[in-house]
Amino acid sequence: MIKKYPGILFFIFIVLKIGVFAQSTAPAWVVPKEAKEKVCPFKFTPESVKSGENIFQKNCKSCHGDPGKQNWAKIIPPPGDPASAGFQKQTDGEMFYRVTTGKTPMPQFGNILSDEERWQVISYIRSFNTNYVQPAPVVKAGSGSKTLNLRMYCNYRQKKLYILCMEITNDKTEIPAKGIDIQLNVKRYFGILRVGDPKTTNAKGLALFDFPSDLPGGQFGILDFSARVKDETGNLYSNQANARLAIGKPYLLKSLTDAHAMWSVRSKAPVWLILIFSLSLITVWGFIFYIFISLKKLKQTN
Ligand code: HEC
Repeated sequence: MIKKYPGILFFIFIVLKIGVFAQSTAPAWVVPKEAKEKVCPFKFTPESVKSGENIFQKNCKSCHGDPGKQNWAKIIPPPGDPASAGFQKQTDGEMFYRVTTGKTPMPQFGNILSDEERWQVISYIRSFNTNYVQPAPVVKAGSGSKTLNLRMYCNYRQKKLYILCMEITNDKTEIPAKGIDIQLNVKRYFGILRVGDPKTTNAKGLALFDFPSDLPGGQFGILDFSARVKDETGNLYSNQANARLAIGKPYLLKSLTDAHAMWSVRSKAPVWLILIFSLSLITVWGFIFYIFISLKKLKQTN
């Protein structure tokens, strides 16, 4: 009897282990270190909380419920209550990253909400945490007082846009401006469309963007790009670089009648139709000619 115990214990141990293992393999939502440390560029205020509440109602409530009421949607994995300790344990940067990138079934809000709106919704979520202290917005070696010059280059083979950002120093020389956020935009009929999130320039002053692959660009696929410096407060600087490139998806202007008419030009008409048409033409003209001849005969006999 006693001798059997270890076997049974071992069996139970294995079962438990499998249980724990199965739970922990629900893919963890890992946030890269850099994103984790990101902090909001502005201070949370009652106004930002209010705007965040509106955004939350429209975009998040359907799954996450009302913060503090634990009434999230019964889906797998559970979305969780934003007011809960577990949820509040995330850093601002983690929340921002997760809201930006999404994870099925949670949508990717990076293209739906602007950076500012995503931070506002986080400021709303934080308003349910009385212990929360907002980390001070980090002011990067700023674009603020610098004179910057932007240029845009395009590498069709690599399908990349290069934005070169140079700082013009007091003695009028240019040095690469590192750590500057660049926002790429494309002009649309109704205004300016942001292409993804801003990218930060490297030591060479370069920020690289992939060609957007899915932007429709009129009949010839032409897109008007502009790149701008984005500062800590989200303001866009006026200095910008522009380029007009034919890298959009062309959409063909189709003739409206092409698809509907049975034939639009003679070469497309079927042979039987041409035959019938010609025959009826000959018959009608023949008939008219016959009447004409008959009339003439009638006149002569008179
Ligand atoms: C379609 C449903 C859905 C919507 C809409 C949705 N979420 Fe989520 N969210 C989820 C699910 C499900 C998870 C859990 C994902 C996981 O853990 O794998 C989640 C997780 C999160 C997390 C990470 C929580 C944690 O503890 O790791 C954050 C932050 C978050 N959501 C914020 C938001 C915000 C802000 C909005 C609105 C802008 C939003 N979500 C809208 C379903 C949704």
